[in-house]
Amino acid sequence: MYFAWTVKHKPKSLSEIVGNKEAIQKFVDWVKSWERAVPKKRVAFLYGPPGIGKTVTVEALANDLKMELIEKNASDYRTEDAINRFAGLASQYNSLFGGKKIVLLDELDGLTGTSDKGGVKAITDIAKTAQCPIVLIANNAYDPRFSNLRNYSLLIEFKKPPTGEVMKHLKSICANEGIQADEDALKFIAQRSEGDVRSAVNDLQALSQGKKKLTYEDVSWLGYRDRQDTIFSVLRMIIYGRTCISAKQAVDMADVDIDMLFEWIYENVPEHLTDPHDLAEAMDALSMADVYRGRIRATQDWSLTRYVIDFMTAGVAMARRNTKTHGWIPFKFPARIQMLSRSKAERAMQLNIGYKIKRKCHISAYRASKETLPYLKIIFKNNVSMAAGIAKWLDLDPEMIEYITGNKEKTEAIIKQLS
Ligand SMILES: Nc1ncnc2c1ncn2[C@@H]1O[C@H](COP(=O)(O)OP(=O)(O)OP(=O)(O)O)[C@@H](O)[C@H]1O
Ligand SMILES: [Mg+2]
Repeated sequence: MYFAWTVKHKPKSLSEIVGNKEAIQKFVDWVKSWERAVPKKRVAFLYGPPGIGKTVTVEALANDLKMELIEKNASDYRTEDAINRFAGLASQYNSLFGGKKIVLLDELDGLTGTSDKGGVKAITDIAKTAQCPIVLIANNAYDPRFSNLRNYSLLIEFKKPPTGEVMKHLKSICANEGIQADEDALKFIAQRSEGDVRSAVNDLQALSQGKKKLTYEDVSWLGYRDRQDTIFSVLRMIIYGRTCISAKQAVDMADVDIDMLFEWIYENVPEHLTDPHDLAEAMDALSMADVYRGRIRATQDWSLTRYVIDFMTAGVAMARRNTKTHGWIPFKFPARIQMLSRSKAERAMQLNIGYKIKRKCHISAYRASKETLPYLKIIFKNNVSMAAGIAKWLDLDPEMIEYITGNKEKTEAIIKQLS
């Protein structure tokens, strides 16, 4: 059974939350002020971008101050009636168990549709009379629909924590999981997340799956683009898609190209479609997509792309019939791409040597790197003077010689003979 690290390592106390120290202090002061008297603003409105710890701050505070937290997603409670039933009642009476309580209406953004006017109005009414702290959370507190509500709220802005703070959180997770992570590997993940702690933690989990060590090598190949949280939701839309249309739409969301997306789907489908018949059907669809990819490569007829997309999205989505959704299965990074990018430098070197051979032997550089280079390796290992002669004839650089011999002493001996 897998557990998402965002849940497993969710901060339980305010001291474990990184970043936003001032905002959190302001919030704590306000909650504590209720002990003296009902404050002027009975509602605290926390707002800011996703994944930076707004919800978890309220939960940790309730835990630290031993308050009973009454929590709902406002968007599940869209109508005036429902909100009054829940938050209105909760805010008027003391806790069942006589303790202190705090009411949280999370994800208010979901309320802003036209039909929910009553919902915001109901919350505003509660804000005027509440007898216990009410906390609201939204990404954007400056939505015009909240303009009246803002007058009754203590606005607290949450900002994206800086890279160093995100790293702190990643480090403590690594310590907990017994993973030895390089400083620059964590820095890379933190920078890539652009302050979104949730997606940084997800990245860390996916990248260090089954590892005890995490090096810069392990993470750097990700590059700056294709933020992983988007690719994850894209994969989810495709593998767990209910309709062909929604699975196809996922392609527009992906910020990776079609070939890369193919790799992502291809490598993740087997983990997720556990029913053999479903999997066989999905792989069938992927193989059809691959046939069209081959056609495109051969003919450069890019209009065939639409068939590639249909097969690899709708084809995969429709394959899922008997697989049950159980627990949380992490998506993993395509190993094939990882391998290719790791060996990129080596392949570049082989090709450069290929070019040197091409000039003398009149065969393609690619063919030379595949067919001639292996023989050079044998010669360079066993015969220094012949190697020196060839190196001179081909005009090889010292780095190329070192690559071919794979050995420092041999390289020096050959270079000595050259001069
Ligand atoms: N500042 C932080 N410190 C430590 N962990 C964090 C922080 N921010 C987010 N996390 C991790 O990410 C998860 C999601 O955070 P949270 O639910 O608080 O985000 P949010 O700001 O409410 O985002 P959204 O706007 O999407 O609801 C948390 O459970 C926690 O594991
Ligand atoms: Mg939240």
